[in-house]
Amino acid sequence: QTYAVIMAGGIGTRFWPFSRVNYPKQFHDVLGVGESMLQTTVSRFEHICAKENIFIVTNADYYDLVKQQLPFLKESQILCEPIGRNTAPAIAYAAYKINQLNPKANMVVAPADHVILKQAAFEEKIKKALAAANESDILITLGITPSRPDTNYGYIQYLEGDQELKKVKTFTEKPNLEIAQVFLESGDFVWNAGIFIWNVQSILKAFKEFLPEIAEIFDEGIPVLHTDQEAAFINRAYSHCRNISIDYGIMEKAENVYMLPSDLGWSDLGTWNSLYAIGNKDAQGNVVDGEVMLYETTNCIVKTPHDRLVVVDGLHDFIIAEYDNVLMICPKEDEQRVKDFLADAKSKK
Ligand code: GDD
Ligand code: MG
Repeated sequence: QTYAVIMAGGIGTRFWPFSRVNYPKQFHDVLGVGESMLQTTVSRFEHICAKENIFIVTNADYYDLVKQQLPFLKESQILCEPIGRNTAPAIAYAAYKINQLNPKANMVVAPADHVILKQAAFEEKIKKALAAANESDILITLGITPSRPDTNYGYIQYLEGDQELKKVKTFTEKPNLEIAQVFLESGDFVWNAGIFIWNVQSILKAFKEFLPEIAEIFDEGIPVLHTDQEAAFINRAYSHCRNISIDYGIMEKAENVYMLPSDLGWSDLGTWNSLYAIGNKDAQGNVVDGEVMLYETTNCIVKTPHDRLVVVDGLHDFIIAEYDNVLMICPKEDEQRVKDFLADAKSKK
């Protein structure tokens, strides 16, 4: 039996001001396709698992948003976290729940903020990975051919072999630019897509080995999962749960990681530049979503409310983004500072 676990608790700080703490990017229709990224993510699993087997792990504050966007979900399918502790605790919570339902289950873990243009290829790869995970004690991730030295991703070096599924040699989460450049140029690396496939016993075992303090916390909660004491337990558990991503916590350390090379038309819409990269560009290289007049302006990304006219003259390689009560104008190359802008803006209030 296959379960899908969608991680939808991030706040998308690198996508500020469009992504906001009270309305993060995964709940937005970022691409203008008529549905939110979370809704698209869930439909992607239509032919992979039953609707009843989809779990969304998110912050309790977003429960209503999830319920509203995915009305067919039962309350028990929305796992609420009291605070964000990054992806390792979120995955542990889901894995312990699923183990209670079916210890032989296989899991697909997916982020809620990805673009995948090739649905058929996605289904094919996930099914292949599931078949392999069902048979062995391995942790599988999908690998994407890298196109730039992006430091927001995990980089995977793998052993060449006849099998389609490659054994991972090294997993390096978010290397610095210099190292990313070396990885890219070597041609030996792929990006970690952040989509994981394993059987539930394998991931529980990995938690016990590499993040034992998280495993202990959840082991204690087993008797109350699926009871009305679950929420109280989770609130207590999270207050002393370590803040760590699955990538740093397990994927970098485990020896039984495998990678399935996947050409999915994939992108992580994590930053303004990633949205620019996949956006439709006009003749001057601008990506525009809004009511905009541009003069002598090139290679900009503009995303502004449609009810206001924005006039730009003489800007090159800028992000111009307005949402709600914030307007940000920032050189594209400075996008890593967006997090700082958000922090400073918070301290102003
Ligand atoms: N429930 C929950 N709780 N979800 C979370 C939390 C949390 O505390 N933190 C993040 N998420 C969700 C985000 O909403 C997103 O859907 C997903 O988990 C991944 O988190 P990101 O914060 O976007 O991770 P990343 O993009 O920096 O890095 C990961 O993805 C890359 C590819 O997109 C890593 O797996 C990298 O190795 C990978 O290359
Ligand atoms: Mg991401």
